[in-house]
Amino acid sequence: MYTKEIEITLSQLAKELLGHLQQKESKIAIDKTMDDLSRVIIYNDWRYYVQSEPVLSDYEYDQLYAWLKKLELEHPDLVNPDSPTQRVAQGLTKAFPTVQHLVPMLSLENSYNADDLNDWDRKARELSGLADIEYCIEPKFDGASISLIYEDDRLVRGATRGDGVSGEDITANIRQIRSIPLTAKFASHGIHSIEIRGEVLINKNTFKAFNEQRATENLPPLANPRNAASGSLRMVDPREVAKRGLEAFLYHMSYHTMEDGKAEPKEIQTHSNTLDLLSSLGFRTPSKEKKVVKGIQAVIDYCLKFEQERDNLPYEIDGMVIKVNDYALQDRLGMTTHHPRWAMAYKFKARQATSKLRNVEFQVGRTGSVTPVAKIDPVPIGGVTVGSISLFNEDVIKEKDLKIGDTVLVERAGDVIPYIVKSMPDLRDGTETDIVFPTNCPVCHDPLFKPEGESVWRCININCEAQVVERMIHFVSKDAMDIRSLGESNVRKFYGLQIIPDIPGIYTIDYTKIETLEGFGKKSLTNLQTAIEQSKTQPLHRLIFGLGIRYVGETTAKTLANAVHHLLDLREWTEEQLLELEDIGPKVVGSIRQFFSNADNIHMLQRLEELGVNFKSTKSDHHTSGNLEGQTFLFTGTLNKLKRSDAEAMVEQQGGKILSGVSSKLNYLVVGDDAGSKLEKAKKINTVRILSEDDFINLIQ
Ligand code: IVH
Repeated sequence: MYTKEIEITLSQLAKELLGHLQQKESKIAIDKTMDDLSRVIIYNDWRYYVQSEPVLSDYEYDQLYAWLKKLELEHPDLVNPDSPTQRVAQGLTKAFPTVQHLVPMLSLENSYNADDLNDWDRKARELSGLADIEYCIEPKFDGASISLIYEDDRLVRGATRGDGVSGEDITANIRQIRSIPLTAKFASHGIHSIEIRGEVLINKNTFKAFNEQRATENLPPLANPRNAASGSLRMVDPREVAKRGLEAFLYHMSYHTMEDGKAEPKEIQTHSNTLDLLSSLGFRTPSKEKKVVKGIQAVIDYCLKFEQERDNLPYEIDGMVIKVNDYALQDRLGMTTHHPRWAMAYKFKARQATSKLRNVEFQVGRTGSVTPVAKIDPVPIGGVTVGSISLFNEDVIKEKDLKIGDTVLVERAGDVIPYIVKSMPDLRDGTETDIVFPTNCPVCHDPLFKPEGESVWRCININCEAQVVERMIHFVSKDAMDIRSLGESNVRKFYGLQIIPDIPGIYTIDYTKIETLEGFGKKSLTNLQTAIEQSKTQPLHRLIFGLGIRYVGETTAKTLANAVHHLLDLREWTEEQLLELEDIGPKVVGSIRQFFSNADNIHMLQRLEELGVNFKSTKSDHHTSGNLEGQTFLFTGTLNKLKRSDAEAMVEQQGGKILSGVSSKLNYLVVGDDAGSKLEKAKKINTVRILSEDDFINLIQ
């Protein structure tokens, strides 16, 4: 894609452009600047989204992007349709027209064990008359499949798989996926038009964060990253798609025409060549994960080995795909109406199982939400026994048509919480019964309410014991005040024994009462006391998060802690002031204002402060992401002005990372006196920037 020389030139160009910005220089040619900015941004998109190795900080990147947007606004006649800013479409896509695939998108045949693979290999050897077949093995991505068409080097269409023959035209949404290049130099390989296939994914962390956000809004989580990816691809507003952080791997070339109408590009005789070619043109492919082997035993070994890695990958895979590597041999083997004979999916151990739905219990959460929880006959799924599954709300029960006694399909994907995929109404024998949602709180028996437009029933008795306990459990939890010795079971126990009646009660425990309890030795008592004492100095954002204000997740808690000097300042904050904060909308503002205008809450907070809990904003409340976000550093030799540990802390404070050795992943090597082999090694890698201690101090300031 980029030679080392071009990479260096583009990195230097980025620095020059940033330099211009700093000096507010205006005497440079507009069209050239726009072109330079485009090239630098496209290169950095590739480094970030395809290579996962950014070379600019987020801050630098954002500055360049904003500059290009500004110039485009001022000079609309100079806007290039392939400019990186042009991914973001305006307006809504009202319908996704149906489009024909150039070549039908077939499925793959599945195999589950070594015997299946041996059978397949034997047939392929018989058909081909070869003693040993060369295979290319790659991950089977668990996402939504897509097909892309490029003509004259430009992306002209993106479609879903649909029924395999035709899919939906989702070009506007596909353009939001930053790892998919809008242009690619196919012509330099003689290719005029090409259809390529791949998979759109959401990585596990993005998915988790997305569901956490949904949880603060009381929305049921999306079931798994696959559903999240395919749902995202069909959203009507491409700007929303852009926010979903979708990624794409391309793994198949289904059709192409050559510029001269005849010749095939010499370099693509095999599937593995195709992956390398696509990588070299800027696509993300399984080029690093793929393995080319001879004979089926090596295939089996690699599949088994890769299965061990499954949970370490940042995205979901549900197996491996094995492809006959040589295209000429693929043609000889041909296909059935369903699948090619030259490819086979090897499916990993299922993460789905069926079980019987025996009962539904109703749990009251800290905000009074009543959650139905399905109790099923325990089944092992992906190494964990699942017996309890949240059903989130009444609508989910209706949508999935669940009845007590039903056979249900249960899925647990990776570290994702288990969920019920569907019921199986065909297997009913008439003994199944409806799930009756309670009209009164199962704990305090007050009537339940469902606010208009919401799907969650709530107990609005703020003193409902279930809520009080759940609020305390949340307050002491790991991401809130992190009082480790006071986990969920102890909170329940101490509340039941009236040792801790409410949140401030945590700081006035009568330890003599605990001493007499079974299982509490001197040591565990001291540990508990120390943990509670230490929690008083937790940074403010943890306290805010721990209060469990509706819609206030960890990120909002940080924003608030960052904005105030003292927690109780929030009593005086107006709606307008709150709305000015980053990513805080009217719903969150309403909830914050409601919390801080409630006299009981203020009284509770005042008690906490009197008991010594920190209410003031400190340094660690301020966002750690800074100018060095995504940048990597390593220090070598003796520093004169700074202590090494302080210098490292400064890097981390601004969002950078410290690496342990010199590699191509390293962005900056900071060199003190008597630097040794690290400096020599770094000099050989063109992309590592070498800084003196003074350079470093300048950079960090
Ligand atoms: S090749 C004609 N390679 O699996 C063969 N498919 O179960 C084209 N999939 O519809 C497919 N990872 O969506 C291929 N590395 C990979 C894949 C892959 C995931 C999906 C694809 C296909 C489905 C078949």
